[in-house]
Amino acid sequence: MKPRILVGREVFPEVLARLGEHFEVDDNQVDVILGVEGLKARLADKAGALTAATDPVTAAVIAAAPKLKAVCNFAVGYNNIDLAACTSAGVMATNTPGVLDDTTADLAWALLMATARRLPAAERWLRNGEWKGWQFIQWLGTDVHHATLGILGMGRIGQALARRALGFDMKVVYHNRTRLPDDDEAACRARWVEKDALLRESDFLVLLLPYSPATHHTIGVAELALMKPTAHLINVARGGIVDDEALISALRQRRLCGAGLDVFEGEPKFNPGFLELDNVALTPHIGSSSHATRMAMAMRAADNLIAALAGRRPPDLLNPEVLK
Ligand code: DGY
Repeated sequence: MKPRILVGREVFPEVLARLGEHFEVDDNQVDVILGVEGLKARLADKAGALTAATDPVTAAVIAAAPKLKAVCNFAVGYNNIDLAACTSAGVMATNTPGVLDDTTADLAWALLMATARRLPAAERWLRNGEWKGWQFIQWLGTDVHHATLGILGMGRIGQALARRALGFDMKVVYHNRTRLPDDDEAACRARWVEKDALLRESDFLVLLLPYSPATHHTIGVAELALMKPTAHLINVARGGIVDDEALISALRQRRLCGAGLDVFEGEPKFNPGFLELDNVALTPHIGSSSHATRMAMAMRAADNLIAALAGRRPPDLLNPEVLK
């Protein structure tokens, strides 16, 4: 008999077909948010789960799933999974690193350009029929070329972003707990600086940190106060890394020039204050959302689950302690 698994959110039919070769699949193609109670009910008899960032794999969910051997996120972020609870229950957990770096860096770049050149507000103005004639002094934006790009969290996506900046002749500074090896710094012409220097020097500050209690409100009132009033903040990482209330206040008072945001505290709900601002570009958590990349993420998660339930080490194992 094939092991039973749950797929937490709607995925492509090709992914279900692949999983179906190995497992008896309980899918969620109607795409309801299962939440803690839904996951507890649906995982009670499952050996594995393919989960999205919206599936809260909490300690209570793990405790309600006595047969569970592996939870494979189709996301690179895994703050939806209680890793410690997985480890103590002997449940393998995996994510999907590597396959979404360029797509996410592209979206960060799109938001950076959009906020720099005020694209959302200018388009709204045009659509509203307010364009009565070309003017020399109209919709003035911020130059991206030759500006300073700051990157907070310099993993694979940060480095992909830094490489994009080379074509715009930008100066690139970054802050990370660990400095990149010299060769990697040279490849993207990036210089490590202290966090305060990053905040002070950046014309465009892009956040690419993982979310955890330790990174909650990494950017708040004090950090925003260090930034230039001409600077722009871009967040394609996770809601909660920025104190959204503090950001709205800085943008409203023009203590910060603009922001490009793909993620929000408490999403899909978000602070309605953002909607009153004309100096923000807002997208609904679509950093990795190209067809090819979302397919690659789901297939990578499927590979992890297939390996885990066949007794092999999954390629993207987050808690190797469970194998000891
Ligand atoms: C990720 O992979 O972490 C993206 O944010 C999608 O959830």
